[in-house]
Amino acid sequence: MPGLFIAVEGPEGAGKTSLARALAARLVAGGRQVVSVREPGGTPVAEAARKVALKFPHKMAPAAELFLFLAARADLVEKVIRPALAAGQVVLADRFDLSTMAYQVAGGGLPAAAVAEANRLATTGLVPDITLVLDVPVDVGRQRQRAARKVQDRFERQDDAFHRRVLEAYRRAQGPGVVHLDGTQSKQAVLDAAWREVLAAAPLSTRGVS
Ligand code: TYD
Repeated sequence: MPGLFIAVEGPEGAGKTSLARALAARLVAGGRQVVSVREPGGTPVAEAARKVALKFPHKMAPAAELFLFLAARADLVEKVIRPALAAGQVVLADRFDLSTMAYQVAGGGLPAAAVAEANRLATTGLVPDITLVLDVPVDVGRQRQRAARKVQDRFERQDDAFHRRVLEAYRRAQGPGVVHLDGTQSKQAVLDAAWREVLAAAPLSTRGVS
């Protein structure tokens, strides 16, 4: 069976991680081998870059921040994602390239074309087969995070204007495999909608699931 690369994207508190977990469980129940990753992270280099990108207490140049995310992505693509896809597995990524366009370009103000080019270098041209973009209003996402008492990283501490730019960038996102889902629905409804998209995009062995 050919490999399948699914990315789950969206602003803070959109429910990406829950959806990625639930989708992974359904795919496994359907007989697929699933490799779950979250960005930035997933290799020793990427985890080191993650610490600096998210936890470093000092201000950094926007391009320095960009290259930390791209360094993490380059290593993850080469060491984990490409080998898994070559082995016919499903790779389920909690964030991928659209996060960079939303946070570093729309949020941080870096130029889109140059960032897209640098990202292509990092990914060696790999793009997800399906990108599921969860949409929730900024205040709903923030409220969910407060309720979950999540420790805030550098991005979560940004002001509402930053997060509105991020959300608008996600809403404008389009391209092959990009699908928008209403993240304010129940978890089950979001999962069912996502699952329909996965089945539509890729023939899966759906033994025991529908
Ligand atoms: P994390 O707590 O792992 O994820 P989430 O917010 O999805 O629960 O934080 C990842 C943070 O990194 C998030 O605030 C978005 C940011 N980020 C970027 O700014 N650019 C990127 O390219 C990626 C992958 C993440």
